[in-house]
Amino acid sequence: MPGLCVIGLQWGDEAKGKLVDWLAEGHDLIVRYQGGANAGHTVVVGDEVYKLHLIPSGIVHPGILNLVSAGVVIHPKTMLGEMDSLLERGVNIADRLKFSGRAHCVMPWHIKEDEIWNKVNSGDDNIGTTMRGIGPCYRDKVGRSFAIRMSDLLQPELEQQIRRITKYKIKSLAPFCDDGQVDLDAAKITEEYLGYAERLRPYIADTTRILLDAVDQDKGILFEGAQGSLLDVDFGTYPFVTSSNSSGVGVSSGTGVPGNWIGKTIGVAKCYSTRVGGGPFPTELHDETGEHIRVQGNEFGTTTGRPRRCGWFDAVAVRYTCRLSGADSICLTMLDVLSQLSEIHVCVAYELDGQRIEHFPENVSDIRRIKPIYETLPGWEQDITTARKLEDLPVNARAYAARLSELCQRPIEFISVGPDRVQTIVLNPDESLLDSSVV
Ligand code: GDP
Ligand code: IMO
Ligand code: MG
Repeated sequence: MPGLCVIGLQWGDEAKGKLVDWLAEGHDLIVRYQGGANAGHTVVVGDEVYKLHLIPSGIVHPGILNLVSAGVVIHPKTMLGEMDSLLERGVNIADRLKFSGRAHCVMPWHIKEDEIWNKVNSGDDNIGTTMRGIGPCYRDKVGRSFAIRMSDLLQPELEQQIRRITKYKIKSLAPFCDDGQVDLDAAKITEEYLGYAERLRPYIADTTRILLDAVDQDKGILFEGAQGSLLDVDFGTYPFVTSSNSSGVGVSSGTGVPGNWIGKTIGVAKCYSTRVGGGPFPTELHDETGEHIRVQGNEFGTTTGRPRRCGWFDAVAVRYTCRLSGADSICLTMLDVLSQLSEIHVCVAYELDGQRIEHFPENVSDIRRIKPIYETLPGWEQDITTARKLEDLPVNARAYAARLSELCQRPIEFISVGPDRVQTIVLNPDESLLDSSVV
C-alpha cells in the first residue's frame, strides 16, 4: 500500500489537520516529518477540538501508530504538555506515539535566538516567525557543532554537551542582550532536560527503522505535512519561509522513506489565501472584504493567535505548488467562508514590470512587484455548512470550485464546508470538477 501524503499548497493553515484526521482510518501509521511546534493543526470531532503542534493529527484514532520522524525539531516541554493534555482528555498515547532519536531538540537558546533575530530584523525584513526556535534549531542542525538530538538526551555526555554549547551561545549572544547578560544557565538547563529525558525515554525510537519495516510489510502510511509549500525553505517565498522543506519534496528527507514508495499526494488549499507573519502576498486584501474573510473564517493563528492576513485565491501560486508537491488531487477547504459575497475574485496571472506572466517568480523582489490579474466569478448567498454532497452546493459554489480546479489543473477530491469531520464532501472520480459538465 504505497504511502499517502497530505501537503499544504499555500502559506500554511489550509486545514491539513482536518484532512489527516479524515483520512486516518485504514492507515497503520501517521507521520509528521518536518517543522516543529510552529505548526498548529486542528481536529474537530463534535464538541471536541484538538489543537496539535507536534503530535500527528491521527492521535485521536485508536489503533494507529503516530510517529514524529527525523526531520522534525522537537521542543520537549511542548511535546510533554501536548501529551499530558491528551492524556487528561482520555486519549491513550502509550504505545501509539514514538519520536525519532535523530530528531533535533529545540533548546532554550534557540527560542532566545529567535527573539533576538526578530528584534534585529525589523520592518519589511521581519520574517515574523512563530518564536518557537525553529530557524535557530535547524541552523544548528545543519551547522553540526552545536546541535543536540533526541537520542543525545539519553546519553551520559549530555551534561558536558550542554555546558560546552551554553558557553558558546552566551559569548555569541551577549552583544545583542541588555548589559551583555545572557540568561542561560548550563546547570539549570541540564537538570531541566534530564527531567524531560526521563519522561520521554519510552517514546524515543528509531522511527526510520519502524517506517522501513512498515514499507517492507506493505503497511498503510499517511504522511502529514506541516506549514505549506510556499513556506518551503528552498522553493517558497524565500527568505519569508520556514526553515524546512514544507512542500512535497521534504517527505523523503524527513522520514528516510524512499520517494518511489510515495503513492499519492493530496494537496490542501483554502478557497482563498491567508498568510501569517511577514513576506510578500500578491492577492492580499486590505479592505473590508479581507476583514470579512478573517472574521468568517476565524483566521487567527492556531499557534500564536496572530490575525492571519487574508486575500483572494492565487491560482498561479497554487498551480505552481501542485506541480512542486506532486499533488494528484486537491482538497478545497473553507468554502463556507465565502458564502454571502456577491463577487469572488481569483488571480489567474500576474503583471510584472508591464509584462503578463503565468508563473510564480523565484525572487522575493519580483514577487513584491507583481500585480495580480483577476477574473471575477459570481458568489452565492446560501449557508453551505450542511452540504454533504456535490449537488447540495449552490451552482455558483460548484462553478467556483470547478474554475479553481481548471486553473490549477488538478481534480478536486474533497470540499470542506466547516471544521467538523462530518462537514466534508467527497467527490467521486466521475464528479471531477475538471470536467465542467458536472457543474
Ligand atoms: P492546519 O494548520 O492546516 O491544520 O490548519 P489550522 O488548524 O491551523 O487552521 C484551519 C482552521 O480552520 C481550524 O480552526 C479548523 O478547525 C478550521 N476549518 C477546517 N476546515 C474548515 C472549513 O471547511 N470551514 C471552516 N469554516 N473552518 C474550517
Ligand atoms: P501549519 O502547520 C502558518 C510561518 C510563520 C512565519 C514563517 C517562519 O499550522 O500550517 P517559523 O516559526 O517557522 O520560523 O516562521 O512561517 N509559519 C506558519 N504559518 N501555518 C504554519 O504551520 C506555520 N509555521 C510557520 O508565521 O511567517
Ligand atoms: Mg495551522
